[in-house]
Amino acid sequence: MISVSQLTKVYGQTLAVDHISFEVAQGQIVGFLGPNGAGKSTTLRMLTCYLPPTSGGASVDGLDIFHQSEQVRSILGYLPENVPLYTEMKVHEYLDFRGRLRRMDRSTRRRRMGYVMDRCWLKSVEHKTIGHLSKGYRQRVGLADALLHDPKVLILDEPTVGLDPTQIRETRKLIADLGGDHTLLLSTHILPEVEAVCGRVIVISGGKIVAQGSPDELRNSRKMSARVLVECRGPAREVEQALARVSGVGGVELLDGQSDHSMVTAALRPKEGYDIREEVARTIIQHGWPLREIRLEHATLEEFFVQGTANQAMGRA
Ligand SMILES: Nc1ncnc2c1ncn2[C@@H]1O[C@H](COP(=O)(O)OP(=O)(O)O)[C@@H](O)[C@H]1O
Ligand SMILES: [Mg+2]
Repeated sequence: MISVSQLTKVYGQTLAVDHISFEVAQGQIVGFLGPNGAGKSTTLRMLTCYLPPTSGGASVDGLDIFHQSEQVRSILGYLPENVPLYTEMKVHEYLDFRGRLRRMDRSTRRRRMGYVMDRCWLKSVEHKTIGHLSKGYRQRVGLADALLHDPKVLILDEPTVGLDPTQIRETRKLIADLGGDHTLLLSTHILPEVEAVCGRVIVISGGKIVAQGSPDELRNSRKMSARVLVECRGPAREVEQALARVSGVGGVELLDGQSDHSMVTAALRPKEGYDIREEVARTIIQHGWPLREIRLEHATLEEFFVQGTANQAMGRA
């Protein structure tokens, strides 16, 4: 449904998007995941025909984004990063206005407005002025606008940024519900977001695709696995050896090992499915080493990006 080939964008000296290629199949919900500045918004702006590529191209439902931009826009719903709403309009006025821009007739507008306001939980605020709405409600208005013409493809740029936890949960549920009927590409810089709703993830960093796969594949890749940090007082070498023998420990790395009987900090990699904390604590105490701290640390996405791009679990793009 979406086919991207060698898409590239250069802003002055900045290579924002660097020859990326990927496909999104019909009905899929794909997460476009990457840290700030990775090139997500730039890519989405090119796909939605708001920004011409420097080189390369893309098609949406077989339509070329450059030569058939009008048709592409007619089958696309786009929620931009900063939703440009007319703040002085009331919600229903705004949606009606957007529907007229899309040349929807009166009865279609009425039907679709009812549907999207229902879908996006806007019924209670339909007569409110947009400028008086909370960020969460404004985001929903943006989403309702993107859905108004029943587009085949939805492109959402960081759809849950700035929302509170309840709104985030509701928005994710809505996105999950929309999959199937629509093909969805959404960008985010947070991993739980793609885990919550996406069947596939494309990881972008520095304008390049560095990995892609299912959220499970991403989560299970070595770099994303959690680690347990242990701080205790004891002989570094012996502590290391004792911890390596604990069942479920896949690897031990001394971060701060000093001379005997000083503080030792070790990072332990648990084998998949193990919670090693209790056993590790027991082992340290049995040896009589004063235990100062034991902490489960989930690898952050930033770490994933910083650690480079080679990856066994996920095919490199
Ligand atoms: N209009 C612009 N002019 C110049 N540089 C830009 C512009 N928009 C984005 N950039 C730069 O391009 C890179 C990618 O930005 P962006 O696509 O917004 O990333 P993301 O959405 O992943 O945070 C960044 O280095 C950013 O500073
Ligand atoms: Mg962005």
